[in-house]
Amino acid sequence: MSQLLGIRGLRTTFPTRHGLVRAVDGIDLDVRPGECLGVVGESGSGKSVTFLSVLGLVRPPGKVEAEAITFQGRNLLSLAPTEIRAIRGRDIAVTMQDALTALNPAFTVETQIVETIEAHEPGIAKGEARARAIEMLRLVGIPDAERRLASYPHQFSGGMRQRVMVAIALACRPKLLIADEPTTALDVTIQSQVLDLIDDMRVRLGMSVVLITHDLGIVAERCDRVAVMYAGQVVETGPTAEVVAAPIHPYTRGLLRSMPSLAHLDEPLVPIDGTVPDPTRLSDGCRFLPRCPHAVEVCARPVGLRAVTAERAARCILAEVAR
Ligand SMILES: Nc1ncnc2c1ncn2[C@@H]1O[C@H](COP(=O)(O)OP(=O)(O)O)[C@@H](O)[C@H]1O
Ligand code: SF4
Ligand SMILES: [Mg+2]
Repeated sequence: MSQLLGIRGLRTTFPTRHGLVRAVDGIDLDVRPGECLGVVGESGSGKSVTFLSVLGLVRPPGKVEAEAITFQGRNLLSLAPTEIRAIRGRDIAVTMQDALTALNPAFTVETQIVETIEAHEPGIAKGEARARAIEMLRLVGIPDAERRLASYPHQFSGGMRQRVMVAIALACRPKLLIADEPTTALDVTIQSQVLDLIDDMRVRLGMSVVLITHDLGIVAERCDRVAVMYAGQVVETGPTAEVVAAPIHPYTRGLLRSMPSLAHLDEPLVPIDGTVPDPTRLSDGCRFLPRCPHAVEVCARPVGLRAVTAERAARCILAEVAR
């Protein structure tokens, strides 16, 4: 199976007093077994909402529509909420940006890990669940794991707290970890430790990882493939090395040129001009048009994601099939 998670035609909208927010607007995306997929884009581009939608975590009046969302061949859209809840946490785990709010401050780490294990493996012996909890804390590099089980979330430093969240997420040995900006709040050294840890776990547990970030540098270092998002749509996908070496979409090019660590040495560092579009007033044409140096008249008409090679696609009139 070349696909663990498949998303087709995903649209998520939120009615607001300013109008209808089209947060996610026609996303097609695959996550393959064992891979690390980077999902990158500026804040507000729809990264989090895409995966909250997949997990059934968008609350009304938010509305999720899709042609299909399949996980291991099962259509999640046809499942009852209780069945989706069972998959979430057992087969698909999520870590959120802010570990302090994601963890429950009132309970020890032991309670939280053991409860996660019990929720998805009903009937597991207490002692076994506790042993697994210790093993998970060790695995994520928490020193003195057995004693630390009794600690509360606030008794850990920021980096250790992220590790605890990863430990809880991985306690059920998921097939897929969705890591939403797992390191944004952390300093650079700890950032790379947490990312190393996630990568190590991916290899050891044979799981897939979706790494959501606004930092293309992190994606370039860590991810096999990348999906670049802009204004609720995927604008470019492909193997990370190829996309970074030869970006097709002008937005991807702009992102690369605005990044000190990735900018090509012979090109000056330039921020992308202009601002992201208002999500209640999105045009039917290319959404990058107002900021694009290559825009021509036809760009005002709808532009679909065009396959360039078997592995690459871009939502731009400049995307041509490679020969
Ligand atoms: N509950 C909500 N109600 C209204 N708008 C929302 C809600 N959640 C997200 N949005 C909007 O959806 C868009 C995408 O948000 P999000 O997926 O969180 O972006 P990202 O994760 O890429 O920063 C943004 O314009 C955001 O303001
Ligand atoms: S479709 Fe046109 S406006 Fe949009 S990114 Fe491509 S060239 Fe620029
Ligand atoms: Mg987000």
